[in-house]
Amino acid sequence: MSGSTQDVELVVRTIARAAVDNERYFGELDSVVGDGDFGYSLARGFEKLLEGWDDLDRTDAGTFLKRAGMIITSRIGGTSGPIWGTAFLRAGMTAGTADAITGDVVVAMLRNAVEGIKARGQSDVGDKTLLDVLVPFTDRLERELRSGADGAAALAAAAGVARESAEATSGMVARRGRASYTGDRSRGSVDAGAMGVAVIIERINQVWQTEGVS
Ligand SMILES: Nc1ncnc2c1ncn2[C@@H]1O[C@H](COP(=O)(O)OP(=O)(O)OP(=O)(O)O)[C@@H](O)[C@H]1O
Ligand SMILES: [Mg+2]
Repeated sequence: MSGSTQDVELVVRTIARAAVDNERYFGELDSVVGDGDFGYSLARGFEKLLEGWDDLDRTDAGTFLKRAGMIITSRIGGTSGPIWGTAFLRAGMTAGTADAITGDVVVAMLRNAVEGIKARGQSDVGDKTLLDVLVPFTDRLERELRSGADGAAALAAAAGVARESAEATSGMVARRGRASYTGDRSRGSVDAGAMGVAVIIERINQVWQTEGVS
């Protein structure tokens, strides 16, 4: 697997469109034990990114992701702004000026994004957040790529893990974010951010299988 800046653009645009299209669904998920603003926050932020799309600096994948991260940080409200913005910034820092985004680079970008979220959110795997999808997704992607799977096959397998992991958050008690204020009552429903990330990953997988990478 080896992609280009255009492939990174395709993935970011897919994330943005999925966030806009799922505003209502993500909001409903967050309203079960959270305050219901997750869908709205994400949609408004990514809408801004799409509005300014043509003017984004696309000198290289790293610059593009860092610019996107800055817009996201400033435009997404609440907790999600810094968390998602940091993830894009960290991914951009790892991508740097590489013209070829290899499988190893993608995994390193995801790992750095995860570290950024942990630092920003003072959170970790097991707290019932989007990390409970992002980390097992990255682990599986890395395992598939290491065992010789091509990018499309690795992503398909990892997308399945993302969905299962999001569903598994239903059995967990929230330890971060507004949902944690409800204590034990947060058990029995999936985490909004975790399911949001899984839905977005599934959308990337769909686009990837049809449009492919260079
Ligand atoms: N500290 C955190 N670290 C990592 N992820 C978090 C953290 N807090 C919330 N999340 C994720 O963000 C999702 C909710 O996003 P949202 O923007 O609605 O934040 P919130 O917790 O409702 O706080 P606020 O309403 O103050 O923004 C959660 O479902 C969870 O996955
Ligand atoms: Mg919320």
